[in-house]
Amino acid sequence: MSVRLCRGALLHSLFTLASSMDNTPLLQMRGISKAFPGVQALQSVDLTVYPGEILALVGENGAGKSTLMKVLNGVYGADAGEILWQGQAATIHSPHDAQRLGISMIHQELALIPYLDAGKNIYLGREPAGRLPGTVNWRSLYRQAQADLDRLGLEVSVRTPVRFFPIAQQQMIEVAKALSMDARLIVMDEPTSSLTDREVETLFGQMRALRAQGVAVIFISHRLEEVLHIADRVTVLRDGQLVDTRPVSELSTDDIIRMMVGREMGQIFERRSTPPADEVVLEVRGLGRGERVRDVSFALRKGEILGVAGLVGAGRTELAEAIFGARPATAGTILLDGQPLRIRRPQEAIRSGIGFVPEDRKRQGLFLRMSVAANVVMAALRRLTHGLFIRWARVEQITSDFVTRLDIRTPSTAQRVRNLSGGNQQKVVIAKWLTLDPKVLILDEPTRGIDVGAKAEIYRLMNQLAERGVGILMISSELPEVMGISDRILVMHEGRLAGIFDARTATEDALMNAATGINPV
Ligand SMILES: Nc1ncnc2c1ncn2[C@@H]1O[C@H](COP(=O)(O)OP(=O)(O)OP(=O)(O)O)[C@@H](O)[C@H]1O
Ligand SMILES: [Mg+2]
Repeated sequence: MSVRLCRGALLHSLFTLASSMDNTPLLQMRGISKAFPGVQALQSVDLTVYPGEILALVGENGAGKSTLMKVLNGVYGADAGEILWQGQAATIHSPHDAQRLGISMIHQELALIPYLDAGKNIYLGREPAGRLPGTVNWRSLYRQAQADLDRLGLEVSVRTPVRFFPIAQQQMIEVAKALSMDARLIVMDEPTSSLTDREVETLFGQMRALRAQGVAVIFISHRLEEVLHIADRVTVLRDGQLVDTRPVSELSTDDIIRMMVGREMGQIFERRSTPPADEVVLEVRGLGRGERVRDVSFALRKGEILGVAGLVGAGRTELAEAIFGARPATAGTILLDGQPLRIRRPQEAIRSGIGFVPEDRKRQGLFLRMSVAANVVMAALRRLTHGLFIRWARVEQITSDFVTRLDIRTPSTAQRVRNLSGGNQQKVVIAKWLTLDPKVLILDEPTRGIDVGAKAEIYRLMNQLAERGVGILMISSELPEVMGISDRILVMHEGRLAGIFDARTATEDALMNAATGINPV
């Protein structure tokens, strides 16, 4: 027994010695360049990852993070540069090549197949063989998939098509899929953007466990606190170029922001000077729909920003959808400017002056194959046609105006939205609604996946709209954001209103208590 123990200890110390001496990077990307029509997405970028480290990759929207990772994954061929894997030149022409080397990727745009269940999605293309050639051992597949999900503490059925899950859970299923591949390097492109704090902690636990096993992780996130919390080193990109790679221990969030934007950032949250009017623009009385929205009443004033906080699943999106008519309310009344409205379809809400920027912009907010201009004017098309003709000059003018105002980074207004970076796509959705001059604008997680600079721009924009009298309902899971930008904060818990707070005096504790159902008001 003692001999074995000794041998184990000896082996262990030999192993640690060997690995500390072995300083060969797992991955080196050198001088990577990639151009798209009109955009130099990457310009001679270097990136090095060591085994067992968590490397954060940060930069503003459009800086080139996803593109660099797609080059690594073989989705795009680079125009120049080389990739070394464990010191050897590697050719990666497809995601399959990358997977063979031991690279697995969680894409920013979720890549799950909506109508397949979680089990089939996790083992897509890697189904365990059954006894007869060409068959699949489904029992084993579902058992393994269940274990993968259990590991993340995810309580979802492996046999339910993933389209029935909220995005947060879909994101976790992607994570489970990547973890199940036994990879040496896992790339996570904004894996936490729609997760709750608890899910983020679970994910971080997994990342630390991977690190301890010598697996490397490249972690992309716009939440810089997370980056400082979990990463060992940070690589910063700006406009397709490498700014620097530094150990996290040397950096503060302000340092990272400065490196990202190349200048000092002013105040992120700026309160506007004009208070909301007394006049109510939208009033909701006893609104209900199933379990998720129960007897909700509130009034939104002209020029007011009303934050909507709550845990994921508290019914915030459902409340918005009920007001907007996407899933119409079954009980209660909605009044706009004091007039009762019957909203059974989104068109009716839109016609009355209610706009809605949904949480899941890829599926509900955008036509990805169409141009920036087409998407921006989509909702306002009726005003831009003259008989049968579209007033193209006006379309171009409106679009360029929004591109400038919201600082949408695109080579031209003719660019397909699919080719814009995630954050810039979000700005296009917002622009689309602004063309309608809405009286009420509902924003569901408007800054998800958006960099600090663009966030500040979106807050400024919300303030401008409020100053012009628009009533804004903003759903957000980020408390600092809700507290920083709102006038009042409405908190939901299990479909019910758990309290309405004045944002200037509310504390994070009070909001959390209300959100978790402690001390209901
Ligand atoms: N397929 C494509 N065709 C044309 N341009 C593209 C394509 N993919 C990316 N781009 C452009 O390349 C640049 C880099 O985009 P990328 O998606 O890598 O940014 P990112 O750093 O991941 O941003 P985000 O934080 O918003 O996700 C952007 O200007 C983008 O518009
Ligand atoms: Mg990206």
